[in-house]
Amino acid sequence: MSLLFVGGSPEFVRECKAAAARHGAKVGGEAASPYDVYILVDKVKPDGVLLPSHPEWTNVAIDLARVRPNTLIFVSGPVNASTWARMSEARIYSVPADPEQAVKACVTALGRLNPQRFRLDDIEVKPPEVASTQRAVPVTARTLVVYSDKGGAGKTTVAENLAALMGMWAREQERAAGTPCRVALLDFNLDGSTGLYTWFALGDDRRPKTAILWEDFTEDTLQWSAVAGAMNYHEGANVYYLAPPQTADEKVRFGRDLASRIVEGCQKFFHFVIVDTGVALKDRDPILVALAKATDVLLVCRFEYKDMRLLASAYRQELGRILDPARTGMVLNRVRPTWFTVSDFVAAFSREAGAAVPLKGELPEEAALGDKESQVSGQPFVCVRPDSPFTRSMCLLARNILGVDIGITARPKTGLMEKVRALFSKNRQKR
Ligand SMILES: Nc1ncnc2c1ncn2[C@@H]1O[C@H](COP(=O)(O)OP(=O)(O)OP(=O)(O)O)[C@@H](O)[C@H]1O
Ligand SMILES: [Mg+2]
Repeated sequence: MSLLFVGGSPEFVRECKAAAARHGAKVGGEAASPYDVYILVDKVKPDGVLLPSHPEWTNVAIDLARVRPNTLIFVSGPVNASTWARMSEARIYSVPADPEQAVKACVTALGRLNPQRFRLDDIEVKPPEVASTQRAVPVTARTLVVYSDKGGAGKTTVAENLAALMGMWAREQERAAGTPCRVALLDFNLDGSTGLYTWFALGDDRRPKTAILWEDFTEDTLQWSAVAGAMNYHEGANVYYLAPPQTADEKVRFGRDLASRIVEGCQKFFHFVIVDTGVALKDRDPILVALAKATDVLLVCRFEYKDMRLLASAYRQELGRILDPARTGMVLNRVRPTWFTVSDFVAAFSREAGAAVPLKGELPEEAALGDKESQVSGQPFVCVRPDSPFTRSMCLLARNILGVDIGITARPKTGLMEKVRALFSKNRQKR
């Protein structure tokens, strides 16, 4: 459920609250005057703030977007051209004047942007620990491209959680072996559907670094310091992340050449490169480049008969010609009990596609993926719920790809009570 903060006249606030209840959002706070907004927003920490389009409120909205880049700001009602320009620059959403429609638009926008966002601000990062059985083991470097021909199949979920798992594992490898082992997550969603970057206003220093920063790099001068400077580092998951192109101009510039430069550059400096893609292959040169340079292509398919048939027909007509069968595997997502089993599903796919694609992993339906905890903390799900069935399945998927076990465990709690308990249990043992 999205948490909104609403400002404006008492009638506007009242109507928005009623609309929020109808659209499954919660109004966690309200302000009658612009002066109260900043303090109250910090108290409530909402996902979104909805304000009316009166000039005194739009100024607050623009200011708020600048100082709180991780909160989405919405302005309800018409504004003049110059305010519109300032609002667009601050990445503020303009929504209809009618409270019902305004709230509906807010809820849709907030829903579209989660949960795939790594938050790069000052949240306390407490990643789980990699199972202690894991010692330094040699594994070959991999470039994994996560692809599906259908939106919403779970590509981003797979890509970001796999990146996080491998990132945490890589950190242990670095510690044990004393040599760098790094993971890059490249976001090649050219339409920006992942939405992470939307949380950063233009001009904000923390705005995620996008592909364009790689434009100046040439192969022979490429240094790790330059690469690190052109990537966003997420400490919790130990992943270097590259956001998709942001502006129209960046999208134009992000073509075949730049994509090759990025993938090849990353292959030089990262042990694992994971590429999250958008759906269509048509006019998507960077995705084709990534597929061509991949050591593994993961085709993500929902555990739905209809989706399987669509993927099989895309495979027969197009994908099968582009992809190397030896490097391609399938990941079934949202597997749940049905009248057909996973092996029925895979067999039916082979029949329809005219080729066998090995199953690399099956991920269960995980209701908690949509939970507030994982969405709002900005951490990949495997970090938030290391002991969930979904995380265990992700570990198995990673094992099938890498050939080594990756297990993660929740970090032991270190609160005061736990320390006292630990102290007492030690004393008892001594006696
Ligand atoms: N195993 C699962 N159980 C429950 N929900 C899931 C599961 N996998 C993905 N989802 C949810 O489905 C939605 C779509 O997933 P995701 O964004 O990963 O798909 P996608 O293929 O990247 O979509 P797009 O094509 O828009 O980029 C998300 O809200 C995600 O939380
Ligand atoms: Mg996606």
